[in-house]
Amino acid sequence: MCGIIGYCGPREASEVLLAGLKRLEYRGYDSSGISVGFRDNLQVYKKKGKIQALLDVVPESLKGNWGIGHTRWATHGGVNDTNAHPHCDCTGKIAICHNGIIENYVGLKDRLTDEGHRFLTETDSEVIAHLVESFYEGDLEAAVKSTVTLLKGTYGILTMHTDHPDEIIGARNGSPMVLGIGDGEMLIASDVSAMIAHTKQVVYVEDGEVVRMDSGSYAVTDMRNRSVDKKVDSISWELEEMEKGDYPHFMLKEIHEQIDSVPRAIGGRIDEDQATAVLGGLNMSEMELLGVKRIVIIAAGTSYYAGCVVAYLLESLARIPAVTELASELRYRNPIVEEGTLYFAMSQSGETLDTLMAIRELQRKGGRVLGICNVVGSTIARESDGGVYIHSGPEIAVASTKAFTSQLTAMYLFILKMARMRHMAWPEGKRFISGLLGIRKHIGRILEGENSIRELAVKYHKFGNFLFLGRGINYPVAMEGALKLKEIAYIHAEGYSAAEIKHGPIALINDQTPSLFIVPDDHLRDKVISNMKEIKARKGLVIALCVEGDEYAAEIADDVLYVPNCDEEFSPFLMVVPLQLFAYYCALELGCDVDQPRNLAKSVTVE
Ligand code: AGP
Repeated sequence: MCGIIGYCGPREASEVLLAGLKRLEYRGYDSSGISVGFRDNLQVYKKKGKIQALLDVVPESLKGNWGIGHTRWATHGGVNDTNAHPHCDCTGKIAICHNGIIENYVGLKDRLTDEGHRFLTETDSEVIAHLVESFYEGDLEAAVKSTVTLLKGTYGILTMHTDHPDEIIGARNGSPMVLGIGDGEMLIASDVSAMIAHTKQVVYVEDGEVVRMDSGSYAVTDMRNRSVDKKVDSISWELEEMEKGDYPHFMLKEIHEQIDSVPRAIGGRIDEDQATAVLGGLNMSEMELLGVKRIVIIAAGTSYYAGCVVAYLLESLARIPAVTELASELRYRNPIVEEGTLYFAMSQSGETLDTLMAIRELQRKGGRVLGICNVVGSTIARESDGGVYIHSGPEIAVASTKAFTSQLTAMYLFILKMARMRHMAWPEGKRFISGLLGIRKHIGRILEGENSIRELAVKYHKFGNFLFLGRGINYPVAMEGALKLKEIAYIHAEGYSAAEIKHGPIALINDQTPSLFIVPDDHLRDKVISNMKEIKARKGLVIALCVEGDEYAAEIADDVLYVPNCDEEFSPFLMVVPLQLFAYYCALELGCDVDQPRNLAKSVTVE
């Protein structure tokens, strides 16, 4: 999704803005631009394509200490220089950047056109610049507030005016916005990655709030001009965590980081003596937790698949009925919220609008929602009624990898806690803890065998269709593996229940459609083996992802990848890593943009 950044301070704004936009690249975009104020002039540069295209046109000598910048993920209007932000009003004295969608822009544009405003772009966002112009009578903040009262939809808007040098107005509704407080300088952006090089002191802006900032001060008010006291938070991440280091891509770095991110998610959350987990942020008493009769997990994408794994184990281990729902579906399904139901919103970014809106719908109906997020201070984390941070460190690659295993970790701790409050005895709790703590070394073993995964990708990357097949808690892992291949190698892949393929999809089988089976050494192994044979009997290509020593599975398959064996509840942690690497190396073979796949955004803040 779009990235926005604003700067007021002593430095050359263009340098701060362009560097900040580079940091926001990971959000996904197709064009970018900046507007820098100098004396009573706005200097606007905007280009289709990567940030480098913008860097090529912005003069190094560009002067000005105050400005705004934007990376655009197109929603309305083609990808071209004109539709890139910032957008200006008719006078050229106002420039705005916008992240979100203005759903009622057509009517507003018609009205403004009738009033004589001249539009240059096909975008929804440009109406904001002309509305501010129409309301402006010397008070920029007031004009922005009047503007946003007319907007329907979501926005994170930054506005500047040549009559107000060194001033930026920010307004937020539904799209993330954070203020960075520097020493004699101020920044504002979509997320902390754009400002961490300058400050770690941040203020998170909420929906309905407006920020007025200049190089030395800031003020937050609501739409009725009441001052809003805001807490100043400190960013926990370090700048180098947002660098690739020696890795060619963020995705590969983050896959490898899992040997550390999983233990970090465990952190000090295990009570060895009691053989249970200690989770501080649930904001629920033991009696309230015992009163939970049902759990519903809401999420999108990879987080949804993590939730699907968790739902199986909540039921099988903690004996709590549990389901996972797509946030985008639940929100509009008019869900029934019952007493005793506990909701979990799982979101790496903590900004996914589908998930955020589903939370608000559930809370509107009295539902209690706990957030499982990675980004501290993110909207979902702040709006949830409690939750658990997964502490996987910044995940920059669009394809989510370490967040998946860290989300599992956080929720496995919750499963342990709930199971130990119910049916799980102390020895079983100890075994479960041992299994969790053992994951790190297993992932390390898999990474040591990375080259065999790369060789498989070299062999298979030219196929145009794949089936990923698993059962039980590895059925969601099959879906996640398919998603990875789709989103970074642009290869069609379908994740399916291995049991279900005989009910239709087996018609797809031919020697051009490899079937990758996840074959853990668990209670369903023999069933999966039978499914593999059904494919082989129809001349299908079979890849087996199985445990070391499973020679029988290896004999049946055309190719095999091995992972270390482990207690069956933990197999998703191990099975997903080869699938992440397989997708990565297929994408590499195909010359895809691994970290910033086409059309994708890291944080989907539009519906
Ligand atoms: C996963 O690789 C994708 N980038 C995407 O499916 C992502 O998981 C989804 O958009 C949810 O994001 P979130 O976890 O930040 O809410």
